[in-house]
Amino acid sequence: MVQFLKDYPTYFDWLTQQCRALKVPSVNGVQGKASYRLSQTIAGEIEKTGAIPFSQFMHHALYEPGLGYYSAGSHKLGEGGDFVTAPELSPLFAQTLAKSFVKIFAQSEAAVLELGAGSGAFAVELMKELEAQNQLPHKYAILEVSADLKQRQRQAIEQAIPHLVDRFEWLDRLPSQFAGVIFANEVADALPVDLVRKQKEAAQKAQVKLDDSGFRLSWQDAGSILEINPYIRQWSHGYTTEHHLQTEFWLAELVESLTSGALILIDYGYSADEYYAPQRTQGTLQCYYRQHKHNDPLMLPGLQDITASVNFSQLAYTAHKLGAEIIGYCEQALFLMSSGIERQAAKLAETLGSDTMAQVKISQQLKKLLMPDEMGENCKVLIAAKNCPVQLKGFALSNKLHRL
Ligand SMILES: C[S@@+](CC[C@H](N)C(=O)[O-])C[C@H]1O[C@@H](n2cnc3c(N)ncnc32)[C@H](O)[C@@H]1O
Repeated sequence: MVQFLKDYPTYFDWLTQQCRALKVPSVNGVQGKASYRLSQTIAGEIEKTGAIPFSQFMHHALYEPGLGYYSAGSHKLGEGGDFVTAPELSPLFAQTLAKSFVKIFAQSEAAVLELGAGSGAFAVELMKELEAQNQLPHKYAILEVSADLKQRQRQAIEQAIPHLVDRFEWLDRLPSQFAGVIFANEVADALPVDLVRKQKEAAQKAQVKLDDSGFRLSWQDAGSILEINPYIRQWSHGYTTEHHLQTEFWLAELVESLTSGALILIDYGYSADEYYAPQRTQGTLQCYYRQHKHNDPLMLPGLQDITASVNFSQLAYTAHKLGAEIIGYCEQALFLMSSGIERQAAKLAETLGSDTMAQVKISQQLKKLLMPDEMGENCKVLIAAKNCPVQLKGFALSNKLHRL
């Protein structure tokens, strides 16, 4: 047995040193024990063959049942969590997107399939808004990999919109056929990725190994450089980035199951030429622990979020290849502004009357959703449709399909 996993107190010290290095408060006993069990599981996998691909490590760290970051029961999303997503930040996000849902319903079916619904905040706000517009879908399906989050979603929905609970269903797998809107906010950036780097003229892929001081990356030859990534020619020696094989399979399944309607994907990401630009020498992989950002994915197993930006060109290409039409692609801020978020904010402010604090809160939320250095520019919206001739106001200000 390697030293850092020798016993729980030794492991707890290992975690405590990492927290000190990150200058964050130490983990508590419950978190420490879950992380210890997770690391033992990962170590067991590594011991079978000596090393596992980085994507497998990331999968265990995020989704190991009961122990992974998204599967273990603690509140990671929202204020006081490790990061805040747009639906957690403000009801304006779902309220504004509701317009696009209604347009798509009219051309296919009034049904929603949300992937990775987090705390359920988007589902609650969207359904409230659709009810107010008399446009409720007959079905709202959720496909969520985390048992803990499924429970949280159900509770949030039962509490906020108990009269609509009957329209919800939680799926264990993707339906073979679905008509309506498939929606995923910040899901693609939570899918496991592979790490690759350029060494002289060869490409290498990262594996994870074990030694006495913890998990460590080890690089293995990955074959022909051009098969790995066509952009590799312009990279310098040591250039490190991510590959999204699982994301491509995930998207292909979604497009294949969509019979009519549209797929709305919103996430942090870039077109391929921006993603694999020569100056982005260290890729986009980021880790979050208590709103502290760093880039060591092997630290704090199961306790920190690990995320990589999305390659939207790859998603668009995959969707197109499978028969979907790419309706549009642009920054979140432009999509929300074209869809009338400012009017929506004014409407919300009106309902709050003279409550100054609440008014200030709305303008702060708006700023975060729209500001270029926040989600406004870093998050993009990609919409692909099948058998659904729809034009969306969201792309009226800008449609950057040519960038993909
Ligand atoms: C970063 S959170 C975003 C949550 C929510 N969409 C939001 O914006 O607040 C990622 C979510 O995707 C879920 N998830 C990850 N992989 C998934 C998959 N393959 N299918 C469905 N959900 C998945 C996670 O459990 C989590 O709920």
